[in-house]
Amino acid sequence: MDQYPTIDYRLLVDNLTTAILLVDCNLNIFYLNSSCEALFDISLFRAAGQPVINILHAPNDSFNTLDALNNTIKTGQAYTRREAIINVNFKDMHVDYSVSQLNTGKPYHPLLLIELNPIDRMLKISKEENLIQQHQVARQLIRGVAHEIKNPLGGIRGATQLLARSLNDPQYAEFTDIIISEVDRLRNLADTMLGSRQIPSYEAVNVHEPLERVRSLIVNQTKKKIKITRDYDLSLPDVKADRDQLIQVMLNISVNAVQAMTENREFFVDHQPELILRTRIQRLVTINGVLNKSAIRIDIEDNGPGVPEEILESVFYPLVTGRAKGTGLGLSIAQNIMHQHNGMIECQSVPGKTVFSLYLPWESNHVA
Ligand SMILES: Nc1ncnc2c1ncn2[C@@H]1O[C@H](COP(=O)(O)OP(=O)(O)O)[C@@H](O)[C@H]1O
Ligand SMILES: [Mg+2]
Repeated sequence: MDQYPTIDYRLLVDNLTTAILLVDCNLNIFYLNSSCEALFDISLFRAAGQPVINILHAPNDSFNTLDALNNTIKTGQAYTRREAIINVNFKDMHVDYSVSQLNTGKPYHPLLLIELNPIDRMLKISKEENLIQQHQVARQLIRGVAHEIKNPLGGIRGATQLLARSLNDPQYAEFTDIIISEVDRLRNLADTMLGSRQIPSYEAVNVHEPLERVRSLIVNQTKKKIKITRDYDLSLPDVKADRDQLIQVMLNISVNAVQAMTENREFFVDHQPELILRTRIQRLVTINGVLNKSAIRIDIEDNGPGVPEEILESVFYPLVTGRAKGTGLGLSIAQNIMHQHNGMIECQSVPGKTVFSLYLPWESNHVA
């Protein structure tokens, strides 16, 4: 080509998906493109002149952003950070970003060019895929162990009954009774580990109906010591689901919340224990690697002390428990049931606010 086409660079920059920030020598914002305005939810008009450190650095990031930026201004040495945490409207967000010097030719005005790519969605998807895989392996292992435990139990129980009969001595009855009741306890545990053997029977369900069932069970169980708040979107469409299995999922999660609140009374010095049941339509959710235009979201929220930090990442794995008498099976079974429904459960927890969100896609599943 003997002649370059004319390009409107401003238009080009504003149409990039990469967020771009220009910073002056005092590390104040000089310019940001449209993607960057969207990323930080701030207009160029409001951002210009503000210290860039306010948005490029999160308080809980140990990296010294200020020193690094000053160093690039001084030496011209560019740098890239992966999975850095930045602070957007008081919320942490993960981004990859590169900082380089932009030589404008004006001696008083060395500028920095910062290019940012948000990666939260990508992080979340790969984390989810890992989770699902590990979960499936663990479930298989558990089922295998449960089978192996269960098989000899019938034999032990039968033999003990025969023994009790032939001994025919009340002095030993106490011991044989112990063996039989412990065997029964083990068998119940193994049954829970195996999970539901029933094939799900799908029907049109309005999620508020099982939710209300669970609510009344909890009200009876806690004898009104816990405040239960309902925040329902009654316009939600029906979904195709196994009603009894949904009840089991909601019950497992609500019982955990109730246990966390009632077993940690000391946490509630200046507030009341509260369980919130919330239903919503959620747009654009990725469930098991599939992007759904919309899904039904059911939140089961409590204001207890939160999931212990050391088990938060693995809370859905079988046998992971934070309670002395727990089995660690409740959430694993619940997650399994939701997978069978093409849905999933997510957990967010900090002291004072724990939310388990159940997602059920309804577009692929919905009942006309
Ligand atoms: N709402 C909650 N608040 C605090 N911790 C929770 C909550 N839900 C679950 N947990 C933690 O997750 C663990 C695993 O739960 P689960 O799989 O139901 O097993 P289990 O209840 O038998 O321990 C619990 O032991 C508890 O430590
Ligand atoms: Mg439980």
